[in-house]
Amino acid sequence: MEILPTLPKVDAVITDPPYGINTKSDGSGKLSPWGDLCNSAYWYAAWISAARARLTQEGCLWTCLNWRSLVTFQKAACDIAWPIESLMVWDKQWIGPGGQRGLRPSYELVALFAQADFAIADRGLADVQPFPVGSFKPNGHPAEKPIALMDFLVKHSPGTVLDCFMGSGTTGVAAVRAGRTFYGIEQDPVWFDLSCRRIEQAYKQRPLFEAEPQRKPEQIGIEL
Ligand SMILES: C[S@@+](CC[C@H](N)C(=O)[O-])C[C@H]1O[C@@H](n2cnc3c(N)ncnc32)[C@H](O)[C@@H]1O
Repeated sequence: MEILPTLPKVDAVITDPPYGINTKSDGSGKLSPWGDLCNSAYWYAAWISAARARLTQEGCLWTCLNWRSLVTFQKAACDIAWPIESLMVWDKQWIGPGGQRGLRPSYELVALFAQADFAIADRGLADVQPFPVGSFKPNGHPAEKPIALMDFLVKHSPGTVLDCFMGSGTTGVAAVRAGRTFYGIEQDPVWFDLSCRRIEQAYKQRPLFEAEPQRKPEQIGIEL
């Protein structure tokens, strides 16, 4: 929320925030969980609005979520009057660990918010997409997303890319691989450093014949 207003305009926000699904506002879960969902929605509305303020009119915002955080996103979207344009199902083609009673989860979701002049160029693109994943997190972040998913989101977005919850920097790696300018924010210094290392590595691996001139990643620090 402090850094976003300092950034220039971008064409795409591609991000993966904390899902907020274990939030307990009284510390013991005695209050109605609806209050916690509303608190989360308040925060989602705030960062989505701040990120939207950085977007060009042709831009879009993709954000990861799952079925538990969908209601939070819907409330946030209604509160800021920016409706979810599409909800993509990310088919993991793998079943994750579940509890003792229900179905085991094999998908997550990605919501698309569109600015007034944004449209996906490929009009044949479906809202269910397979990106196989397993329990192994190659870079050690517990919520790391597969690079193929982020490659897909970058490919179907215009121009410069911003990720305001970088984690291990997967969106940044995808952006660099696609020859895009990238801005990233991450509050945890451990994950921030890992992101920088991965993004620098992606720059080094970029084919030399790509058109866009390579810029060395810059770090912007703020006093917290
Ligand atoms: C779901 S993870 C992102 C994982 C990432 N997509 C990847 O592939 O590694 C969310 C990240 O947001 C960071 N985060 C949480 N709150 C934040 C905040 N207010 N500002 C910046 N980063 C934040 C967390 O430290 C965490 O690394």
